[in-house]
Amino acid sequence: MHSITLQRPVTADDAILWEEDSLLLLDQRLLPREERFVRCETAAEAAQAITAMVVRGAPAIGITAAYGVVLAARDAWRRRGNDWRREMAGPLALLAGARPTAVNLGWALTRMERLISRLPVEENPEPALLSEAQRIHQEDRAANRAMGEHGADLIRERTGIITHCNAGALATGGYGTALGVIRSAHARGLVEVVHADETRPWLQGARLTAWELVRDGIPVLLQVEGAAAACMAAGGVGWVVVGSDRIAANGDVANKIGTYALALAARAHGVKFMVAAPTSTIDMECPDGASIPIESRAAEEILHCAGSPVAPEGTGAWNPVFDVTPAHLVDYIVTERGVIEAPDADKLAEHMGQP
Ligand code: MRU
Repeated sequence: MHSITLQRPVTADDAILWEEDSLLLLDQRLLPREERFVRCETAAEAAQAITAMVVRGAPAIGITAAYGVVLAARDAWRRRGNDWRREMAGPLALLAGARPTAVNLGWALTRMERLISRLPVEENPEPALLSEAQRIHQEDRAANRAMGEHGADLIRERTGIITHCNAGALATGGYGTALGVIRSAHARGLVEVVHADETRPWLQGARLTAWELVRDGIPVLLQVEGAAAACMAAGGVGWVVVGSDRIAANGDVANKIGTYALALAARAHGVKFMVAAPTSTIDMECPDGASIPIESRAAEEILHCAGSPVAPEGTGAWNPVFDVTPAHLVDYIVTERGVIEAPDADKLAEHMGQP
């Protein structure tokens, strides 16, 4: 993996680029200070970029993995010709294991694998797989636009909105899920201000959400996530709008750690709680939140800040990076297909066309 700078202005929709036959990922670990890209030339590099948080956010992880499959096929065709398909299992497993919670990763790989099984072995698989990865990318962008409109339809009056982590263009193929709703609502004059939770320890809210909103001229106030309940109590906040990494078949929602606390506070204060996510985030194989694999990351992420220790030596740490909000605390799930109010297993099945 090597790092490059683009010779043109960078936008939030540039998180994942396929340019000159290679995969470029905006290095989200460096934002907002630096706008640099990482070039991935192999599937292993794409997997490493996902694990290391160069690229993050459920849909963006899935799209990156799809391009990773293209890189794997290119390598397999060059080295093994007609035997290319045999070489794909290793890279596919590597990509699948890059991060556990976002179901979009497995969803995108399944779609690529289905195509792999249909392709003739005597032809170079790269062009067909690249078209499929680009379709996944474009479809996600279009889904976010549709979701933005459906979500904005629910917001009836101008108000403050709390969001958590980054569910923006950077976390997706473009436009964003939760930030897509906020962008569409802002275009209709419905957003007084966005309260962005800073989102410890990676500070996706401070570094990424604020970066996106400031660039779009959407008013944003940064707050530590511990301030969210007090912010609701102070008044002026009508909605919490968040994204998701996996929604179980009963409507339980996994999202960045701290989302569950936000949902509890929202219910206590009469603030509406909306989850915006494409149908690729809904996992009908997962019956409920207890079955969702929750990623735990290194203790160092919370025992250190900007490279310096923040706790005495000998301190342990519990660092789950997602939590599960039970369906009964969710007022609306919004997908590209429309709105599910007060989600439950029956409504999810109907929405997904699996009654
Ligand atoms: O650890 P991250 O930054 O990948 O976590 C991202 C989130 O929790 C997002 O809210 C979620 O993926 C939805 S993104 C549209």
